[in-house]
Amino acid sequence: MTRGYPSAMPTYQRRGDVPRKRHIQFRDNGTLLTEEVMGLEGFSGNESILYHLISPCRVKELGNFEPIKREEWVPDAHAHRHMKTIGLQPEGDALSGRRLLMWNQDVEISLCRPAEPMESYFRNGEGDEVVFVHEGTGTLETIFGDLPYREGDYIVIPRGTTYRFVAEGPQRYVVFESEGLIEIPRRYRNQYGQLLEHAPYYHRDIHPPNELKTHRDRGDHELKVRVRDGYQTYVIDYHPFDVVGWDGYVYPWTFNINDFEPITGRIHMPPPSHQTFAGRNFVICSFCPRKLDFDPMAVPIPYHHSNLNSEEMIYYVDGQFSSRKGIEIGSVTLHPSGIPHGPQPGLAEKSLGATETHEFAVMCDTFHPLKLTKLAKELDEPDYAYSWYEERGESHTYDQDPAGATSHL
Ligand SMILES: [Fe+2]
Repeated sequence: MTRGYPSAMPTYQRRGDVPRKRHIQFRDNGTLLTEEVMGLEGFSGNESILYHLISPCRVKELGNFEPIKREEWVPDAHAHRHMKTIGLQPEGDALSGRRLLMWNQDVEISLCRPAEPMESYFRNGEGDEVVFVHEGTGTLETIFGDLPYREGDYIVIPRGTTYRFVAEGPQRYVVFESEGLIEIPRRYRNQYGQLLEHAPYYHRDIHPPNELKTHRDRGDHELKVRVRDGYQTYVIDYHPFDVVGWDGYVYPWTFNINDFEPITGRIHMPPPSHQTFAGRNFVICSFCPRKLDFDPMAVPIPYHHSNLNSEEMIYYVDGQFSSRKGIEIGSVTLHPSGIPHGPQPGLAEKSLGATETHEFAVMCDTFHPLKLTKLAKELDEPDYAYSWYEERGESHTYDQDPAGATSHL
């Protein structure tokens, strides 16, 4: 959760052609190129330096500004929530199809099932993005080069990155957007930035853009930029990916949830052991198949807990969730702050002796309360709040994987 020393991006990268030193003449067919320093935290954070054929300030036409509208749903009662999202209908593109589910001042969490290709290019000018790809493959075309993605990828897109999704087949995303930086947790890195031996992933698991393509065509292109809580459209008369080379620490990258190395203990390990990303007042965690707690007296599912100043949102990605009532692939649970949560009646007893779990889930814990949208109301399963109000074992179904969805609750 700390901003600390520059840690946003994995390592130094270079693509295409760059001059031998910064800030010296660099030409393409005799034309002096436009050097752009794209940096964070003034001139003190990470940066990349890009060399453009055309000034990135050049605008042919200022288009519309569309403010972002959020339709809040304030439930009648403060309670645990379960939303089923698998039936969400595809709509819009990879940007316009983002449907906000919950948000606070630090993070916006949206679901997205794009129905059509992105015609415009997009840049988030006020936030970092992490797109979890639940279903689908494709390429994120970016100003830094092509970034292929596949099912299970987290696509990490720093602010300022101009991009376009080019999807192959049906897609299903969970999108996190934040005004703050989204980073690799500081405790995973040494003072030089290298990932430590105890970190659950390594630099080899991080995939930067693989190929820079310099576009020289001069036709009109539409560029949308998220700024000031809205979308500003610009028309430019050149291709936005006009970079002949870049280097630095700021660029988009992917990390696949299957490459997260789970940490297991003799007794129960807390959620921070699953942390994947650090945001401003929130974390994103990955729950992956793993051996469960192995002490003979261990209770391999979590104790009840009151996260007094945290909210816990979990998106269920894959696995057998039948031991948790009603949970299915695409389910979202929200266990809000101020009230305790834990396994439902009988599950702790049933879990004894379980040795492994086969589930995947993505969790976002926030320090500030999350507001819900009308979409959350549409998808809400109101019975969930009463799922602890049962006699032990009543109406639960158990399979051979009794740790089930509760293993990461
Ligand atoms: Fe929890």
